[in-house]
Amino acid sequence: MWSGRFNEPTDAFVEAFTASVSFDQRMAMADIQGSLAHAKMLHRIKLLDDTEHTDIDNGLNQIRDEINNGSFEWSVSLEDVHMNIESRLTQLVGNAGKKLHTGRSRNDQVATDIRLYLRDAIKQILEQIRYFQAGLLDLAEREAETIMPGFTHLQVAQPITFGHHMLAWFEMLERDHSRLVDCLVRMNQLPLGAAALAGTSYPLDRHYTAELLGFDLPCRNSLDAVSDRDFAIEFCADAAICMTHLSRMSEELVLWSSAQFNFIQLPDRYCTGSSIMPQKKNPDVPELVRGKTGRVNGHLVSLLTLMKSQPLAYNKDNQEDKEPLFDTLDTLGGSLRAFGDMVPNLITNRDVMYQAAKQGYATATDLADYLVNKGLAFRDAHEVVGNAVAYAIEQGKDLSECTLVEMQGFDSRIEADVFDVLSLEGSVNARSIVGGTAPDQVYLQVEAGRKLIS
Ligand code: ARG
Repeated sequence: MWSGRFNEPTDAFVEAFTASVSFDQRMAMADIQGSLAHAKMLHRIKLLDDTEHTDIDNGLNQIRDEINNGSFEWSVSLEDVHMNIESRLTQLVGNAGKKLHTGRSRNDQVATDIRLYLRDAIKQILEQIRYFQAGLLDLAEREAETIMPGFTHLQVAQPITFGHHMLAWFEMLERDHSRLVDCLVRMNQLPLGAAALAGTSYPLDRHYTAELLGFDLPCRNSLDAVSDRDFAIEFCADAAICMTHLSRMSEELVLWSSAQFNFIQLPDRYCTGSSIMPQKKNPDVPELVRGKTGRVNGHLVSLLTLMKSQPLAYNKDNQEDKEPLFDTLDTLGGSLRAFGDMVPNLITNRDVMYQAAKQGYATATDLADYLVNKGLAFRDAHEVVGNAVAYAIEQGKDLSECTLVEMQGFDSRIEADVFDVLSLEGSVNARSIVGGTAPDQVYLQVEAGRKLIS
């Protein structure tokens, strides 16, 4: 492509070392889409005549077919997806093919392709998030009245409902979704027309190309357009946060499905056995997702480091943006797909969770609140209940199993109605505040959630 200026051919190793076609061919459809729009614009401003435009159109469509049916021959010596396609176009349609690159550089071309590619990919991720969220809402509704221990410091804290816990996961995903929507907005500007770095002397109609490709407007500065990859970094940051959320869910799923917790069972199709221990059912998928979070976080750091201190405008460094970006898409997409099917189909062991909540003195706060209602200051009530819990532990029973006389030994204001607040049902039902764990709140939040994602 550039033989004119050189006295010797590129070293074979250097050719392979600098080539990106093995991984950037993944953007081939975006590259063709961008070229079709560029050609249409060139025709409109009369830099291509009717025949040339038709030839380019037909040639690009044929190349699309060749790539889709696997007959396209990719060549490393043509370095990247852009030159592979352009070279094939010239082979197919001759002179017209050589005119396609008028007013364009690979620098604005690649910056456009990544945006086109990523834009579609993010839309798919958004759908996957919605699908998972819808499943979580169904699960929350199904388990709205299922009582489990809620934890802080992984110590039993207060009883909550399983549905409420699923709604917490729903909220994390809702923010992940909105972050990605924001990311799309900032990304949706067209680099084409920036050419190599300074813009072009041809009177390109950048607004027209932007409209054809569904961009909101052409990038306002040509140097910025070809050199920044902040949109890819932003996506990877959003992906890392989403994976971090999935890793937290993973950790809970692993814990809950262990024999020690035994709160849930994951669908068999998402687990594997052990080659040596016949009793094992391992939660491989959540463990893997937890592990894969590390590589997505790593990709974010790769891209940040790639961009750090780069002088304007385009540098070859930027070719290194694609593999981390693509792997982030694959990893996040795969993890969401697995969770979207696995989580809504988990089975809860309601009885086990109920007993676990009972054993942990989870209603101690309710007893303190009860005493506050009877006139004690909260700090004094806290102290009284602390003594009561210490006594119950010593006796090896739950607070609700103490007699009224025993309870009155801690504070004379305690009456028979204390047993209403010591029950797990009483405790969760009492938290019928906006955002609280009571089943009636869970039902309301499920309804609101369905509206939000519809
Ligand atoms: N393969 C290159 C990349 O991914 C395309 C742009 C090359 N531009 C250049 N001036 N060498 O960034």
